[in-house]
Amino acid sequence: MARPPAPVTLGLTETTCATEKGWEVTMKALVYHGPGQRRWEFVPDPAILEPTDAIVRIDSSTICGTDLHILKGDVPEVAPGTILGHEAVGTVIETGSAVTTIATGDRVLVSCITSCGRCRFCREGHYGLCTGGGGWIFGHLIDGLQAEFARVPFADTSVYKVPEALSDEQVLFLADTLPTAYEVGVLNGRVEPGDTVAIVGAGPIGLATIMTAKLHTPGRIVAIDLADPRLEKALEFGADVTICNGREDPVAKVMELTGGLGADVAIEAVGAPETFELCTELIRPGGRVANIGVHGKCATLHLEKLWIRDVLITTGLVDTSTTPRLLKLIESGRLDPTVFATHRFPLVEAEEAYDVFAAAAETHALKVVLEGAPVGHDLLVREEAVAGV
Ligand SMILES: NC(=O)c1ccc[n+]([C@@H]2O[C@H](COP(=O)([O-])OP(=O)(O)OC[C@H]3O[C@@H](n4cnc5c(N)ncnc54)[C@H](O)[C@@H]3O)[C@@H](O)[C@H]2O)c1
Ligand SMILES: [Zn+2]
Ligand SMILES: [Zn+2]
Repeated sequence: MARPPAPVTLGLTETTCATEKGWEVTMKALVYHGPGQRRWEFVPDPAILEPTDAIVRIDSSTICGTDLHILKGDVPEVAPGTILGHEAVGTVIETGSAVTTIATGDRVLVSCITSCGRCRFCREGHYGLCTGGGGWIFGHLIDGLQAEFARVPFADTSVYKVPEALSDEQVLFLADTLPTAYEVGVLNGRVEPGDTVAIVGAGPIGLATIMTAKLHTPGRIVAIDLADPRLEKALEFGADVTICNGREDPVAKVMELTGGLGADVAIEAVGAPETFELCTELIRPGGRVANIGVHGKCATLHLEKLWIRDVLITTGLVDTSTTPRLLKLIESGRLDPTVFATHRFPLVEAEEAYDVFAAAAETHALKVVLEGAPVGHDLLVREEAVAGV
């Protein structure tokens, strides 16, 4: 789907002028103001701080369950005043002097993980562990991507050019959801052809785990969740069996399905002590548990039962190192992540979008797309700012 050309004459060229004229605020963004508080408001435009930075106009962004964790105060390192968001597709409008592989006008995927490209972990492809200033920093340690513009550090090694033929929505969920499910769930869990894979939690991450597990031709995918609408979605995404663990005993059911042995792989996609412990009970001897969920509370590892069973337990933050591979699969039509987009809002209505996303039980939201303003809007915003609107 071809898009209009990037507004290369807009953006920070005007901002620079604006700053020289003493205008202090020119763009709008969703700003975190402490637990429970967020506001769509005027903020200063981002500027190039390092020669490896780029400035990107945000064309599409989305909200993650982790953003809700931040708003609950579960991620205390997020300082009040930080712009939220770590998933976006945008257009490069300015590059620092050291940036060589992307240029003004390029459409890029801005991933949740940034890579310095130089530290030991980045050299090994473990960008999530970056010790050179990258890793998960957007909407966490630096300003994020639910904004009209954003500064992207280490641009050369952190963004991915979007093929012309692909729409924003086709690639947006590569910023976090798909690589998380694939790397931390499917690859860490070593899903193999024929395996019985039990996936606990059928939110966006659990559903993306179903979608990407299918790339490895498992024998059977069992989705487990408390919510029936989520289990219906799991079937649509390709689960073979669903278990509502509010009504049924998931361990008994999985044992029945596997001749009393247990699943080859259990993938935790909730982030609660009980679901992690459930995963360790669902697997066969020699089985694998891959934990994806973000945990805020202590979970018990029953070593007294597990030590003799040759189990493998993995944890991890996504690296996004599989992004190029997943992008190819989308290009070739083998993966279609657009099914995650259940709701769309203009970026300027980010606050309403959060309400819909947070009430997923009633709204059935999976991913809510925040659509950037049409080309030229940024100038209008600046005029509003100058007029003090
Ligand atoms: N490791 C990483 O790099 C990484 C990256 C992104 C997200 N995550 C984490 O992955 C987890 C899942 O993300 P999401 O966006 O899909 O979350 P979500 O909250 O949208 O979905 C969670 C699902 O779990 C279900 N659930 C809740 N309690 C349950 C229980 N006791 N038993 C069975 N099902 C239960 C809910 O009904 C829901 O469908 C979160 O903890 C998120 O923070 C981790
Ligand atoms: Zn996220
Ligand atoms: Zn690094």
